[in-house]
Amino acid sequence: MKRKIITTGDGSKTIQIEDWNEQYHSVHGAVQEAYHVFIKNGLSLYQNRELAILEIGFGTGLNAFITLLEGQKQGLEIMYQGVEAYPVSPEEVTELNYVAQLKAQDFENELLLMHNSPWEEACDITDNFTLLKQQKDFKDIGDSNAFDLIYFDAFGARVQPELWTEEIFTKMFQALKPEGVLVTYAAKGSVRRAMQAVGFIVERLPGPPGKREMLRGQKKQ
Ligand SMILES: C[S@@+](CC[C@H](N)C(=O)[O-])C[C@H]1O[C@@H](n2cnc3c(N)ncnc32)[C@H](O)[C@@H]1O
Repeated sequence: MKRKIITTGDGSKTIQIEDWNEQYHSVHGAVQEAYHVFIKNGLSLYQNRELAILEIGFGTGLNAFITLLEGQKQGLEIMYQGVEAYPVSPEEVTELNYVAQLKAQDFENELLLMHNSPWEEACDITDNFTLLKQQKDFKDIGDSNAFDLIYFDAFGARVQPELWTEEIFTKMFQALKPEGVLVTYAAKGSVRRAMQAVGFIVERLPGPPGKREMLRGQKKQ
């Protein structure tokens, strides 16, 4: 499907799937949304410890990159697993230019390494951030009790309803360790009910600018 790079409300760029009128991030602000949903309401729950993160939709690598930057500040040792069926191209990475947007020139090589590291192999991006990129369909995820935190960043239910089902959330619940947390930008009632049906305790939290709410689920047993 045809992808095009667009500029969002906070000046940062994202990718748009034209045929679906669907973006990789919020049109109100890609960086702003990523920080709000995944860092403020996800990563910030953890300090000074080891943390295993699963990302549903590695995409542009923006979530992974800001997790590397913030993880340093929070004293985290991160094992990051990004699942993606349709990797972005090197040209797209260059055009997105997240290093400039995030004023993270000191970490330019780390972002390049994230994209250039081989798929299916764990790669140390820094001393405290290891990345494993897996090119596969979300439906083939079969991990069990492996992750502390899941960034659930699939395209919206409007265009991929099959990714917001009890079947997929059962896989997410199984992949989490006890007390593990899943965060997503989504707020739809049907998504919340699917998460609750498989066992998540779900909170509705204020969403990023342009969106009233988002969801966070915890695996309580
Ligand atoms: C909303 S975007 C993710 C954005 C990403 N987290 C980022 O920071 O750029 C959703 C991603 O899911 C991927 N995707 C869509 N369907 C998939 C599937 N069935 N299995 C694996 N990846 C899929 C898309 O290629 C896209 O990269």
